[in-house]
Amino acid sequence: MSVQYQAVGWNRQKRLYDSILATSVVGFVGVFAGIGTWIHPNATAETLLIRGFGTAALVLLHVILCIGPLCRLDRRFLPLLYNRRHLGVTMFLLALVHGVFAIVQFHAFGDRNPLVSLFTANPRFDSITAFPFEIPGVFALLILLLMAATSHDFWLKNLTAPIWKTLHMGVYLAYALLIAHVTLGALQSETSPLLAALLATGLITVVSLHVAAGRRESALDNQRHAKADDGFIEVCDVNGIPEKQAVVVNVGEERVAVFRYDGKISATSNVCRHQNGPLGEGRIIDGCITCPWHGYQYLPEDGTSPPPFKEKVATYRTRVIGGKVQVHPCALPPGTRVLPSRINGETAEVRA
Ligand code: HEM
Ligand code: FES
Repeated sequence: MSVQYQAVGWNRQKRLYDSILATSVVGFVGVFAGIGTWIHPNATAETLLIRGFGTAALVLLHVILCIGPLCRLDRRFLPLLYNRRHLGVTMFLLALVHGVFAIVQFHAFGDRNPLVSLFTANPRFDSITAFPFEIPGVFALLILLLMAATSHDFWLKNLTAPIWKTLHMGVYLAYALLIAHVTLGALQSETSPLLAALLATGLITVVSLHVAAGRRESALDNQRHAKADDGFIEVCDVNGIPEKQAVVVNVGEERVAVFRYDGKISATSNVCRHQNGPLGEGRIIDGCITCPWHGYQYLPEDGTSPPPFKEKVATYRTRVIGGKVQVHPCALPPGTRVLPSRINGETAEVRA
């Protein structure tokens, strides 16, 4: 919440999240190796571990990619999002173990440097069936390394949010490279259609969830509301806003979170200053709008974080007439105090 960089504190929720994650990963690799030994009794332990860690990383990547759209579609998934970066770093570590084991197993025992061998052992770039599939895996791993290394808020603060965000969009490029890596590589040697079916199911799930969430977002952006002569826009019924929560509306070009709490209405920008989280999907906790992603807080009346924090979001004028909430589409400078509208119809005023 602070403008200054602050070390991340550990809490019970984070410990629980990480314990479940660690148990699931160990369980997954164990079950994978067990089933692998049963199906391929001649496979070596190294091969099973290479495959187990690679598959665990890829499954976790699918989970990571699905969490964002799932939260957009249903807020019950939000707890998964809070520590999504822990998932990202874990996924990178699994992929790293997979990659290092694979390099040792397939490239370390010849007369060439293993890294030179990795890039030069198979020059069949012109063939689909013999393509050097490890190379897209290497580039994916480098992208995941960059993301894991810069995942901490320290880097978010120092690189600035737009650069950090662009960097982390690289996950989609890494995903495409991994689809190529697995399709061109492992699937070529597998006779069972099961792996191909699982990979296709994963891809279809990721794409469908993104399309569904995108449609929902664009329906929100295309909302058209009745405009009063003085510029106020009628956005919803008072009763349409659950107590201590918000509805998100699109006024002008901006998304605005309209909160209802203690018989009052206040509106702020929907965009959290931390990582652009959707404030309107959060709740009012202890009198503060609380971002659903990582818990940054803002006072509904003026959009400022409570001291000692210094973040500010834009506020909007509101009024309630005949049970309908109206919002003025002009954003006020971040931190501008606006008297909340009373649900009985009192109009808001701006105080400098
Ligand atoms: C240095 C980078 C990498 C190298 C050298 C590498 C190498 C390999 C090799 C040799 C195989 C075939 C293993 C076998 O069939 O026995 C393989 C398969 C696989 N790799 Fe990678 N890989 C790399 C990066 C990655 C990354 C970053 C991921 C996922 C995040 C990944 C996921 C997979 C998966 C899911 C398979 C198929 C496993 C199976 O057959 O069950 N790889 N990789
Ligand atoms: S607290 Fe992280 S995006 Fe809002």
